[in-house]
Amino acid sequence: MQKICVIGLGYIGLPTAAIFARAGFSVVGVDVNKQVVERLNKGEVTIEEVGLPEVVKQVVASGKLRASLEPEEADVFLISVPTPIHEDCTANVDYVKSATEAVVPYLKKGNVVIVESTIPPRTIDDIVAPIIEAAGFNPKEDVAIAHCPERVLPGRILIELVENTRIVGGLTPEAATKAADVYRQIVTGDVVETEAVTAEMSKLMENTFRDVNIALANELAKISARLGVDAHKVIELANKHPRVNIHQPGPGVGGHCLAVDPYFIVEKAPEEALMIQLSRDINNSMPDFVIEQIIKLTAELKEPKIALFGLTYKGNIDDVRESPAIDIVEKVLANPRYNVRVHDPHVRDERVPFPLVSFEEAVKGANLVVVLTDHNEFKMINKNVLVSEMETPVVFDTKNCTNLEQEEGLTVYRIGDVTGLEAIAVKRINS
Ligand SMILES: NC(=O)c1ccc[n+]([C@@H]2O[C@H](COP(=O)([O-])OP(=O)(O)OC[C@H]3O[C@@H](n4cnc5c(N)ncnc54)[C@H](O)[C@@H]3O)[C@@H](O)[C@H]2O)c1
Repeated sequence: MQKICVIGLGYIGLPTAAIFARAGFSVVGVDVNKQVVERLNKGEVTIEEVGLPEVVKQVVASGKLRASLEPEEADVFLISVPTPIHEDCTANVDYVKSATEAVVPYLKKGNVVIVESTIPPRTIDDIVAPIIEAAGFNPKEDVAIAHCPERVLPGRILIELVENTRIVGGLTPEAATKAADVYRQIVTGDVVETEAVTAEMSKLMENTFRDVNIALANELAKISARLGVDAHKVIELANKHPRVNIHQPGPGVGGHCLAVDPYFIVEKAPEEALMIQLSRDINNSMPDFVIEQIIKLTAELKEPKIALFGLTYKGNIDDVRESPAIDIVEKVLANPRYNVRVHDPHVRDERVPFPLVSFEEAVKGANLVVVLTDHNEFKMINKNVLVSEMETPVVFDTKNCTNLEQEEGLTVYRIGDVTGLEAIAVKRINS
């Protein structure tokens, strides 16, 4: 069995390392974070992902997976380090550069180097290959260099790592085949070979497609607010057309992918990527749209008590990166008029710079609950607790996910249906 060195043990690298180890590969996971390395060597995980603790425990115990602060010689090097954006929305490929540089001293002819991180178009050709060339290798002959983008859904990573179709883009056709053969040993889905730049661009367009479509739904929510229409009903009916699939509006778009990847294209082709940029702007404007509704809802109260539910960018995960919910919470916290409680059953305190409270503490005496994430816990909120514990039982559901219905004693607004929002809230609160 081949030996694999996985650089970067985060949401992607750790499950990937664990899956290869479970398939019998000898895997060394490398991370610059000492805590990640120490905990992994004890069989513990540092991220929340369904089924991951069990697999990691098993493969560490069997000796197939271990962690280190330094790379070592291997047959395959797999790079899964972050690719965030700078303040100005340009790609930060520094982690990919330093990970490649860290691998180079351990490279031998015949090795495979795969970048799984999401990267701007031409990164393999213009950044990764030159680093390997500078170390004295012929990047087209001595080493197989490829990009294999990751497209897993958090919460289903262990399943999708195995079942999804993989796109493997090589610096050369031979490199694509060699890298694809690595995945063919663990993947049950198709493994498709192409050029590196096509693989880079296809990953970026997958996320851009979703970002643009969510922007359209968010624009519909805003238009509906102006026109007094229920956007959720509009989407439901429009989607009965066999070739229409309007996405759902929400409080914005977050995460490491959708909120970031489109900028990689904008950076490379700003004059052409107009719709992509505009969609980013629309999605980035949604936290302010949510804040506007909160302001309207609480306008008549002296010191509104607001409970904010959910911090992650999507439901049932603990990842708060680029989350619009964080943006909303910070804006609400910045208003001294508000008495704010924040609750998220999936997020540990140390991940956020403000205190978190339990569901019970959050709703007690609250005037308004704002749901910002579609965790399962929020899909099944106990209506009776809200009615009995809140001072004014009003809910603003920005994910259209709760089981709560507008009824006697409970007022519920949804992101795409805020018609009459101010009037009802004021009436309830004064009564
Ligand atoms: N998280 C997802 O759902 C997802 C999905 C598809 C693609 N991706 C892409 O995968 C890549 C990794 O994302 P992630 O979510 O796993 O990131 P992450 O932040 O969870 O993990 C990255 C890890 O890399 C480590 N690291 C940074 N520089 C290093 C270096 N030079 N050497 C060794 N370790 C280093 C960090 O300490 C961290 O533990 C990104 O490009 C991301 O866009 C992520």
